Amino acid sequence: MNTALITTIENNALEAIGSIKDLGTLARFETEFLGRKSELSNLLKELKNLSPEEKRATGPKLQALREKLQMLHSEKQAELENNARDWEAERLDVTAPGISQAVGHLHPITVLEHEVLGIFERLGFLVAEGPEAETEWYNFDALNFPKDHPARDMQDTFWIVGGGAKIKQGKKGDEKERLLMRTHTSPNQVRFMEHNKPPFRVIVPGRVFRNEATDASHEHTFHQFECLMLDETGKVSVATFKHVAETFFENFFGKKVTIRLRPSYFPFTEPSFEFDISCVLCDSAGCSTCKQTGWLEIGGAGMVHQNVLVAAGYPKGKYQGFAWGFGLTRLAMMKYKITDIRQFMSGDLRFIRQF
Ligand code: DAH
Repeated sequence: MNTALITTIENNALEAIGSIKDLGTLARFETEFLGRKSELSNLLKELKNLSPEEKRATGPKLQALREKLQMLHSEKQAELENNARDWEAERLDVTAPGISQAVGHLHPITVLEHEVLGIFERLGFLVAEGPEAETEWYNFDALNFPKDHPARDMQDTFWIVGGGAKIKQGKKGDEKERLLMRTHTSPNQVRFMEHNKPPFRVIVPGRVFRNEATDASHEHTFHQFECLMLDETGKVSVATFKHVAETFFENFFGKKVTIRLRPSYFPFTEPSFEFDISCVLCDSAGCSTCKQTGWLEIGGAGMVHQNVLVAAGYPKGKYQGFAWGFGLTRLAMMKYKITDIRQFMSGDLRFIRQF
């Protein structure tokens, strides 16, 4: 093979690259000297036709030239790209004062929710969730609310206009079911029961919605917890409930509490209670939070009504247990001594940043 040809290619390439001033010309250089159809590539392709001696003599030279040209090309490319940069625009003022980053944090309700879930998980409870847009069946019917119960009224419930969903065959046929924003977390009792068999303990946190005028103690959107513990009949009693509630609150407030049950009525429990805990803020001496009574009203509870168990698909009488619902927002108000519930959802950062 003609070594003079290799030298010629090299000289031509060196001359060409020396005068290149822009990336377009550089691209043409690459095609001409390093491209698949370049003289150099042709010579490399011909190598295989040469005798072993010739191959040994020429091969390394061709390879060396190829590497040299590739190197020259990338150096030139770096140089041209560098020249094209607008250094003035990229100037960095290292003496400029820094901008401090605003660090976000969890909403106080979320922090409390994690705390509550942690306590229940340590007591062996599962955590479940359910939809915020709920069917009338789960929110009311399955929970044994009579058809004409006032809670279904326009006053209390946000009905979803035009909303409708098919519910399970066999419950109420496949007729269209009206949708609403769930007014409590209790529908998740039934949802959970449908897919699980006792014994179990479960807690369901969630946002709930009420169609009512807001004031310092009423909000249209707030957070609740639903607590459900079921086993075969005879194994879970009101005493079990009292014990679980007491353990929970002693962990939550970090001090001993007394539980007080008052008879009440909920369609989905029998018997039903409202329950209070001894005021943890004044140790029952009487303060503004407990309205001088020494007791804090916490929520509703009771033994799950057999109609609810049947609605969930269980055989009547086989299982028994307690259900309990309470407002996380109320707990937050007690814990942080907040007197206006509307502040939680106000989006006012001056409020949120205090936590
Ligand atoms: N769902 C009720 C409410 O929002 C609270 C409640 C009462 C839940 C009694 C329960 C219960 O699980 O047993 O007012």
